[in-house]
Amino acid sequence: MAVPLGCPGNQSDQQARGSGAVINRVAKYIYPWPPPNAFSKPVWQDYLDGEYRQREMPESAEEVAADSRWPAFFSQPICLITTTDGQQCYLEREVGPCIVNRFPYVMTISLCRKALSERHTPRVQFMEALEKSGIANVQFLPLGPPLDRCLDILNTYPEGQVQKRVAATGLPHRRALSNAAPVFADAFMVYETHFCRPMEDLYGNKIYEKPYVDVGSHRVYFLEVNCIQLRQDIADGRTQIAWNSLAEWTPRRPTVPSADVDQSTITRMGYIKPFTPYYKFPASNTVAFEYEGNADGMAYKHFEAFQRSHVEVIDNDKTRWPCFFPSSLGMITSRSAAGKPNLMPCGSTTVISRSPLVISPAVTYGGINDRYRSRYTLHNIRAHSRFGVGLATVNEEMLAAIRYAGNVSAADDPNKLRNTGLSFEDGDYSPILRGCPIHFDCEVVGEVKLGTHSMFLGEVQRILVRTDVSAENPITWNPWPVVLTDDAADRGTSSRPEATDGSRPRRVVAAGE
Ligand SMILES: Cc1cc2nc3c(=O)[nH]c(=O)nc-3n(C[C@H](O)[C@H](O)[C@H](O)COP(=O)(O)O)c2cc1C
Repeated sequence: MAVPLGCPGNQSDQQARGSGAVINRVAKYIYPWPPPNAFSKPVWQDYLDGEYRQREMPESAEEVAADSRWPAFFSQPICLITTTDGQQCYLEREVGPCIVNRFPYVMTISLCRKALSERHTPRVQFMEALEKSGIANVQFLPLGPPLDRCLDILNTYPEGQVQKRVAATGLPHRRALSNAAPVFADAFMVYETHFCRPMEDLYGNKIYEKPYVDVGSHRVYFLEVNCIQLRQDIADGRTQIAWNSLAEWTPRRPTVPSADVDQSTITRMGYIKPFTPYYKFPASNTVAFEYEGNADGMAYKHFEAFQRSHVEVIDNDKTRWPCFFPSSLGMITSRSAAGKPNLMPCGSTTVISRSPLVISPAVTYGGINDRYRSRYTLHNIRAHSRFGVGLATVNEEMLAAIRYAGNVSAADDPNKLRNTGLSFEDGDYSPILRGCPIHFDCEVVGEVKLGTHSMFLGEVQRILVRTDVSAENPITWNPWPVVLTDDAADRGTSSRPEATDGSRPRRVVAAGE
């Protein structure tokens, strides 16, 4: 099994697979998919002459009640979140926190609000406290005993006892810098957030009239980031965070790439976003976290509440994310009004409801600079109310395609999808990338404008899984960012940040936009 781990962004992706101790430390946190017998139910049928198994969606309430695990895998980070109701503290685990908008700087989390099964129950206490205070601290702990302790407590203190969890961990914690909810002393990165308040976007549209939206079984909260804390040794480049944004999988049969591709359009693009699935942060090719102070071993930076004037910033680099945040990648496929297929890699793609299963890509509409141009995909999705989401895994063809499709718009290259070199099937719902082990066909049931990005709410209508995905040949994923320790194996062949003189490294390739 290929075990993912963090690797340097400035080596080739092949070289970048790391070694020894990190693998051992990470191995127990790796999630393999599918579980045994995942496809034994008759709901899975043959598609495209044995190339895929397909499952029509949505499932019935009875099917979900019997087994509410996701019917197919989509890569998402996991974090811990704390809140308070002003008196007590509450702790939850969140799958799929996602930065979805740049101005204002907004993260979504989604919490279950309906009883679906024994596994999926409403998180009443946490949601009540969150809605009372409007604050949440999203935090990441290094892999190891304190994180394990939190995960144990989350399992052993169910609904009714959520307010006991923080104390039950026995872990030291303190008040956050901007709010009264707790932060674990072991956290290496904390995003302090509050509910988005009603405001207007660039075009005068009213946004965030409510700080949440109900989507199927879940409530999706919009949280504006108002302070980031990062462990001082990481902020100073003495220690790195490793994050693998793509899952790993070994295809058992080759896909035939398109011949005669013409990628010359990329040379005319005003802004090129680099991409590696193996991020290390900070690194010599990254921008520093520009902190303003330090306390409790953490470097921190506060962010002013959003004002419309902020979006006058047109410098491409200044509009990057100010710090690392783990994100995965959806390969969003669509068709133009005239039927031309397209592909847009989208880091801000997240699963927001379990029943029906809803996947949501955040697509730029506010054209503030070359980095944030309005996407062709936006118009395609609006034209047909459909899109596809392919799960990308690490291989050279996929990485080359992400770099091309993620930098060249179909507005500039009408044959963009073909010119990525990827083999694709036109598909009856949306274009299907043959190299992706999993594909979701989605129908748009809503669009939420967020300021610079629009979240499309895509109800999954069909899932395709390649037949060479199996419990014996699983997709593997590490949902946790890894703090690299200073032992020799972690160091491996990796590059340390170039700044050895105490100055901070200068440029950051953050994990998302
Ligand atoms: C790794 C990566 C992640 C990206 N994530 C997003 C995203 O979350 N939202 C977005 O609007 N654009 C994102 N982009 C940029 C678009 O993929 C890019 O602008 C693309 O060319 C748009 O294509 P289109 O205009 O043909 O739709 C990302 C690009 C890369 C390389």
